Amino acid sequence: MQANELKIEIDFNKLGFEIVQTEWMYVSYFKDNKWDDGKIMPYGPIEIFPSANILSYGQGIFEGLKALKSKDNHILLFRPIENAKRFNISAERLAMPSFDNNKFLKAIEEVVLLNKKFIPPYNSGGALYIRPIMIGSGPMLGVAPANEFMVMIYCSPVGSYFNAEGSGIELLISKKYTRSSQGGTGYSKMCGNYAGILKPAKEAKKLGYDEVIYLDSIHMKYISEVGAANFCTIIDGKLVTPKRDGTILEGITLKSVLDLAKKELKIPVRERDISYEELFKPNCTEAFCTGTAAVITPIGSITYGKKRKEFNNKEPGEITKTIYNLLTSIQRLDKKDKYNWVEILE
Ligand SMILES: Cc1ncc(COP(=O)(O)O)c(C=O)c1O
Repeated sequence: MQANELKIEIDFNKLGFEIVQTEWMYVSYFKDNKWDDGKIMPYGPIEIFPSANILSYGQGIFEGLKALKSKDNHILLFRPIENAKRFNISAERLAMPSFDNNKFLKAIEEVVLLNKKFIPPYNSGGALYIRPIMIGSGPMLGVAPANEFMVMIYCSPVGSYFNAEGSGIELLISKKYTRSSQGGTGYSKMCGNYAGILKPAKEAKKLGYDEVIYLDSIHMKYISEVGAANFCTIIDGKLVTPKRDGTILEGITLKSVLDLAKKELKIPVRERDISYEELFKPNCTEAFCTGTAAVITPIGSITYGKKRKEFNNKEPGEITKTIYNLLTSIQRLDKKDKYNWVEILE
């Protein structure tokens, strides 16, 4: 088996968040009620029937994590077991079969090591983004779970997700669209959750914003999350984030940030309803997004209708910077990883 050997002409310092083809991917099939052993294949197109469940009914989920280089050139993953667990939480919500955590981790390791020439160097600030997906590949006509599934894992080198060049991003609080609702699929990483936010994001970008902040779907008042990242703010010196109530994707970055704030920085943490009106008050001094892709992205401004607020002249706030530095230095092992979050692959 041979992959198309790709010449590396990538400028690792100029990467954004677009797909860059790499050489190898992992594929595993679920048939007759069981998963096969899975195999590594050259990265390339796959064949599925037009009647595959994913194509009509959207039975599909995904994950996202990064392989990073440390200063001394080790290849690192950040809390991959949490992605394995969340993959199965999403699979369960979408009536898909579970996928063994160890198999998931081993497959990721193989894909990363085979594609290691695509991992951006330490000082570029980039990473190899790893995308595991599971789709209902079996043919279905009526609305029902597929009887065949595929897991695929591929990767792409990436730079920063938001093009903010050091200053904070500009976010629009949507009065019109929501991302998820009580009893829905908001807590899972299902494909359809993202299809629904393409139009709101496109409209916001046309108006000059980087992304949308979604509100809860019942009151249209409480902050939910940002397109593909969780939301945090500093109110009266406390780190406040929306309650994880089943409508929000429970971010691994968020979970880590809350732990670091509490345990390392001794910043009080509150998980509670946050009305958008609170963000416009003077005691709300900083805001930022967290996510694998977003890392910690400072929020420079928020807008709701005619109301607009700029945080710190759009510069990252002190607490935001401290959390960013602490998290990223643990992720790259510049600091001791006392919580055992980092896996060294090589
Ligand atoms: C909707 C949504 N919220 C939050 C996050 C952040 O989650 P994590 O920190 O695990 O990447 C993501 C990204 O995965 C996301 O898609």
